[in-house]
This record gives sequence, structure tokens and C-alpha cells, in this order.
Amino acid sequence: MSVAIALDGPAGAGKSTIAKRAAKALDYIYIDTGALYRTIGLSAMRRNIEPVESKEVSDMLSEIKVEIAFNDKMEQIVLLDGEDVSSLIRTPEVSMTASKISAIPEVRAYLLDLQRDMAKKNNVIMDGRDIGTVVLPDAKVKIFLTASPEARAERRYKELLEKGMNVSYDDVLKDVNERDYNDSHRKTAPLKPAEGCVIVDTTELDFEQSVDKIISVIKENV
Ligand code: DC
Repeated sequence: MSVAIALDGPAGAGKSTIAKRAAKALDYIYIDTGALYRTIGLSAMRRNIEPVESKEVSDMLSEIKVEIAFNDKMEQIVLLDGEDVSSLIRTPEVSMTASKISAIPEVRAYLLDLQRDMAKKNNVIMDGRDIGTVVLPDAKVKIFLTASPEARAERRYKELLEKGMNVSYDDVLKDVNERDYNDSHRKTAPLKPAEGCVIVDTTELDFEQSVDKIISVIKENV
């Protein structure tokens, strides 16, 4: 039997970097489900389709193929119709489109089996918004990782600057607040702590402390 760790929380809480390190330390596979919503967002942008419930979005879903694969360092990559789009999905525009398109029930249903299959076959730390509530409600450990909007915006701002993107802190904070609102107010699978989850707040923790905390929560509960 494979072991699943569900890791949910708002954008910019550090889920991906923290979970990657914890997965490596514990020999689990790290799965980033946000990348799947981003890939569908990118696909809609390329086709000039509005990220709202519509026949265009349904048709698009029946035409595209979204896959998870791993590179030789065992890092996740995402494929859109066979093309590696892992870097292309990391722009603020794709973030916003992904947040909007992820509110569409059909989009969520489309990605459900893919996510569950990954957890059936591997020991995973799966990072998302609804992993503990919807995708893997029977996960062995459920963690809700959060931090204040300002702390999250600050971290994302630094990340984007390091990638050479021209953004302002105020815009990033606005994006964080807007995405939090979208993610937690949608009708289908809104972002909220799962029943029985452990809440970890990293506002006052640095990266190493956050990783240690997550690893200890997992070890105590597996
Ligand atoms: O984690 P992220 O920022 O890469 O996710 C991009 C968007 O996808 C985010 O706004 C919310 C959505 N998402 C979701 O609805 N459910 C998930 N399991 C993962 C992400």
C-alpha cells in the first residue's frame, strides 16, 4: 500500500519548495497539482478562451492531453499534448488564469483521476488546494500550510525578481489576495483546511524551520 501525504494551503505559503525538500528527505515523490491547473490555463490562453464555464472550455478539455512526467532528477514536469510546458506555466498571467479556470467543476473533474492515479502508484506528498478534502480524503497525513498574505506576497515577489520578472510588491500582494479570494470562495472544492488536518503556519518560520516542521508532522503521523 502506498502512503499519501496531502498538503494544502493558499498560494505562496511555500508549499512547493518545502514539500520538495521534505519529499527528498523522506523518499516520497512530490506532486505539484497546481501545475496541472496552470497547464489547462496556459492551454486556454493559447486558444484565446476565457477561463469561465463554457462550451469552449469543455471542447478544449476533450481535445487536449495533460500528463505528469519526471525528469532524470525525478522532478515533476508537465506535458501539454506532449510538449514540456513546465517553465511556461510560471508567469503571473498563467497564475491568474489557472486560479479562474480551476473554479470550473469540469476542469476539476478532468484532473481528478490523474491525481488519484499518481497516489495509487507511489508514496506521494501531493501539493494543492483540495487534496485532503477531495482528491485524497483518506490520505495518511493531511497538512494545511499557511502564512499571512503579506509574508506570502513578499516571498513570491522575491522569487519573481530572481527569475528576472519585472513586478512590483503591491501587484504581487494584490494577486495573492485576489487568488486567495477566488480559491476559497469557489463553489467546487474551495480551499479550506480538511477535517483532521494539522495546520502549520510559516509566517514566523524560515525555510529550514518550515521543512523541519513538515518532516516532523509527517514522521509523527505515518
Ligand atoms: O499552487 P499553484 O499556485 O501553482 O496553483 C495554481 C492555481 O490552481 C491556484 O490558483 C489554485 C488552483 N489549484 C486548485 O484549484 N487546486 C489544486 N489542487 C491546485 C491548484
